Amino acid sequence: MPVPSNVKQRLSPLAEDILKGFSAEEKYIPSKYFYDDEGSRLFQKIMEMPEYYLTRSEMEILSVQSADIASALQFEEPFNIVELGAGDAQKTQELLKYLVHQQVDFTYIPIDISEEAMQQLQQKLHTSLPGLQVQPEVGDYFSILKGMDFSGRSNLFLFLGSNIGNYEPDDAKVLLGMLYSHMQPGDKLLIGFDLQKAPSVIHNAYDDPHGVTRSFNLNLLHRINRELEADMVVDQFDFYCFYNPFNGEVRSVLVSLVEQEVTVGALQQSFHFSPNEIIRTELSKKYTLTEIENLAQACGYRVEKHFYDHNHYFTDSLWRKE
Ligand code: AVJ
Repeated sequence: MPVPSNVKQRLSPLAEDILKGFSAEEKYIPSKYFYDDEGSRLFQKIMEMPEYYLTRSEMEILSVQSADIASALQFEEPFNIVELGAGDAQKTQELLKYLVHQQVDFTYIPIDISEEAMQQLQQKLHTSLPGLQVQPEVGDYFSILKGMDFSGRSNLFLFLGSNIGNYEPDDAKVLLGMLYSHMQPGDKLLIGFDLQKAPSVIHNAYDDPHGVTRSFNLNLLHRINRELEADMVVDQFDFYCFYNPFNGEVRSVLVSLVEQEVTVGALQQSFHFSPNEIIRTELSKKYTLTEIENLAQACGYRVEKHFYDHNHYFTDSLWRKE
């Protein structure tokens, strides 16, 4: 049943994406919708779990190797550090701290979709690193990048936390190619990749025994109920995720446990779910070094250096635009 045109005109981005995702042959919910207030709290809890090694691995790289990262930049001062999806910048702070203590002259430009997160970050950095020049920007990466003039200074772009893992490989190429087109020759990108490793280690990080990742996924359904006046019965869905060591993909899904009809008030429409029908929620791709190097090359970058944690679980990879 088509959505009445008077409804369609006033659809929020979430409503539009749920309409698309629930009408698709294989249902899906885009993973960016995990991060409402409750989802952000749950993600904080995920990062605190011992099983979720990604945060600590990257934290180790950015704290223990901050001097090596700084010296690999070889930028004239002053330069910019532009972070895509800065969030609370917990890990970035380690690198910033080192540079400030070395009295390096640079401006930190965190970009994030959440206005609240950027205000809190500015406050936090004002207290913890009073000498730091911070210029937060609120919005999505590419509208901000388009509207900014980065010429006249060297720029280090940061895309940390394995956020690239959420993109299908072809989309990752498009995204990094777009970023490349906004860079000037000599600019650099430090990008975090979660590496392929013992499958059980990866499995436990996502199918965690505390059920936090499960709640994180089910929160998507609560969010749809809250924001789109829907009547999803959350208990009638289960969370399932699996790691495929043949291609490095963690796929997370929600499974409809029964045949059911869901009405989404904001769309004035119902959607049918068959028993065992799945809703895709997330890809968390784990990379091999070869894949990383091929990806860089396909987008035009030269790989300068990989920075690893002591387990070699994770790499922050430094790329340069020639
Ligand atoms: C924030 C996208 C890096 O994929 O590992 C954590 C999100 N999902 N547990 C990831 C997430 C399930 C996370 N990223």
